[in-house]
Amino acid sequence: MSSSSSRISGFFRLPPAERRRRLLALTTLSAERFTAVDPGALPLDVADGMIENVVGVYALPFAVAVNFTIDGDDALVPMVVEEASIVAAASNAARMARPGGFHTVVSAPVMIGQIQVTDIDDVDAAADVLRARAEELLGDARRLMPRLAERGGGPIALDVRPLARSGPDGGMLVVHLHVDCRDAMGANLINTLCEALATRIADLAEGRPGLRILSNLTDGRTVTVRCTIDDARLTDEIAAGPAVRAAIAAASRFAELDPYRAATHNKGIMNGVDAVLVATGQDWRAVEAGAHAFAARSGAYRPLAVWHERSGGLDGELVMPLAVGTVGGALHVHPGARLALDLAGAHAADRLAAIAGAAGLATNLAALRALATEGIQRGHMALHARGLARAAGATGELIDRVADELAATGDIKADRAREVFARLCSPYMVKNTP
Ligand code: MEV
Repeated sequence: MSSSSSRISGFFRLPPAERRRRLLALTTLSAERFTAVDPGALPLDVADGMIENVVGVYALPFAVAVNFTIDGDDALVPMVVEEASIVAAASNAARMARPGGFHTVVSAPVMIGQIQVTDIDDVDAAADVLRARAEELLGDARRLMPRLAERGGGPIALDVRPLARSGPDGGMLVVHLHVDCRDAMGANLINTLCEALATRIADLAEGRPGLRILSNLTDGRTVTVRCTIDDARLTDEIAAGPAVRAAIAAASRFAELDPYRAATHNKGIMNGVDAVLVATGQDWRAVEAGAHAFAARSGAYRPLAVWHERSGGLDGELVMPLAVGTVGGALHVHPGARLALDLAGAHAADRLAAIAGAAGLATNLAALRALATEGIQRGHMALHARGLARAAGATGELIDRVADELAATGDIKADRAREVFARLCSPYMVKNTP
């Protein structure tokens, strides 16, 4: 996408059909592609083929966060989520992060497969044997995945981790098979490899094969996202930039010192990450599991993103594991996920990881900015008021008028929204009646 096109002022005020038109003008997608996210778009027979015991299809809103610049290119960021204010928060923070935008470093897509071996008499001797045969075992693994090797991936390393010399399961060790999965998330291919190698590995260790499964602690497949926010972009009508900057840095230190806060801080990051993962058909539970294990890797649960003051602004950095794929998985069958990938221009796993990571750093920034200044409730309530205005029947400019009146009185309730709408609506009706 061209370099300034994700900056869409007032996108949130447009009706959905007009938003679609604006997105079509920015992309090469055809209008028919949006039928993939029309209500009722996922046919029951397709859903029935995806999981078991299907009785229906459950819909969530599909939105696009705007204003993102990631590694010098603008990106539309598709999001599927039930919580109000996440899409607005991401778009606002992305606007703050312009013009520099987000900069990412995405590691090679290396996943870990675990092959457990139990009932070993001499774990140290078994580990030595396996280490001595590592190249041979890797060769076996590579021969099992010729197509992955053709795409530049495949098994790249094998290491052995003794876990117990004795115990209820006898001596226990685990073999880690590190596999470059290219654009696949890799769960299926890792599990296939682990199952294929387990008997040979257990024989060499003179033990019994145990579990054969990928690890969701994908610390070999990470994304680092950085951005810099100038004081001028942090300033608003109630607080000056330097004060906001100091308050955000203090909020970040709070998360570094306290796991109770770090959990909520990280939840704010996952608000953005998960919304992109759900939209693009990813295994978001896998990423959640990996993120929290990674956050606790030092023995204490820590924030995945931190913010530091520098002269005239703030530097933010997020580091987290992000195992995503643009081939395989649910993506082949879910038209909404394919649309999301095309809207985002995420045709390779590394770009998708960069976009999901940037969304996470953005929602973290937006949350800290609100919490460190006026609190999050005013923004939440303003959005809630707009939702009530719509539910009361308001459209177009009436949405803002009803919402503004609800927010001004602080009485943000459905029956009040209906009252205000009815009152504001009558002159419109009169004016528009021929
Ligand atoms: C709510 O969904 C997320 C926040 O609690 C995140 C945070 O506290 O940083 C606002």
